[in-house]
Amino acid sequence: MRRKRIIAAVILVLITLVGVAMSQFSLSALPEPGKVETYLATKGKHLLVARGSRGISQSPAVTPAAAAEGEKLYGAECSMCHGMDARSPTGIGRAMYPRAVDLTSSQVQGYSDAELFWITKNGVRLSGMPAFGKAETDAHIWSIVQYLRTVSVVVGNKTRGLAVRNP
Ligand code: HEC
Repeated sequence: MRRKRIIAAVILVLITLVGVAMSQFSLSALPEPGKVETYLATKGKHLLVARGSRGISQSPAVTPAAAAEGEKLYGAECSMCHGMDARSPTGIGRAMYPRAVDLTSSQVQGYSDAELFWITKNGVRLSGMPAFGKAETDAHIWSIVQYLRTVSVVVGNKTRGLAVRNP
């Protein structure tokens, strides 16, 4: 009898909590994502990206030709959100929830090549990051990854790649 009452009380508390959480929830993308939400979503994303990219073969060697190809593809497919220099997300990118990120940041450059390939190919569900797996060949996606590695190389106070030609 006592046990049943405890279970009923726990269920009631849970229903109340869900009710309160739902009444607080908003679909608006205007506010900045909170710290707890960002922390939990980032942890979960890293785990899923690491799991998804397991078994992806070693990336092809970086060649200037592939990086140049990647630069062109980046300009056509990624810059509209992540910015021409890959480090200053555009107005559209910054209006998304979560926001489009600086691809030269240590957070992004900390991903392995296989993880960057996986993210570009599969996108990030429940975010504005599209999947390019149907639009692009694997070879093209690798060249974009190679290009992304070059933008993090700081030359003076500028980065190589598009930033130099489009300051
Ligand atoms: C329509 C806008 C949009 C386009 C186009 C876009 N992205 Fe993104 N991208 C986003 C958003 C928004 C996020 C943030 C997702 C998140 O926080 O999980 C993101 C996240 C990423 C991340 C992961 C960052 C992280 O911290 O986990 C990588 C890598 C990335 N994009 C690369 C690319 C590449 C490469 C292209 C082009 C082939 C591209 N993106 C095109 C919006 C875009």
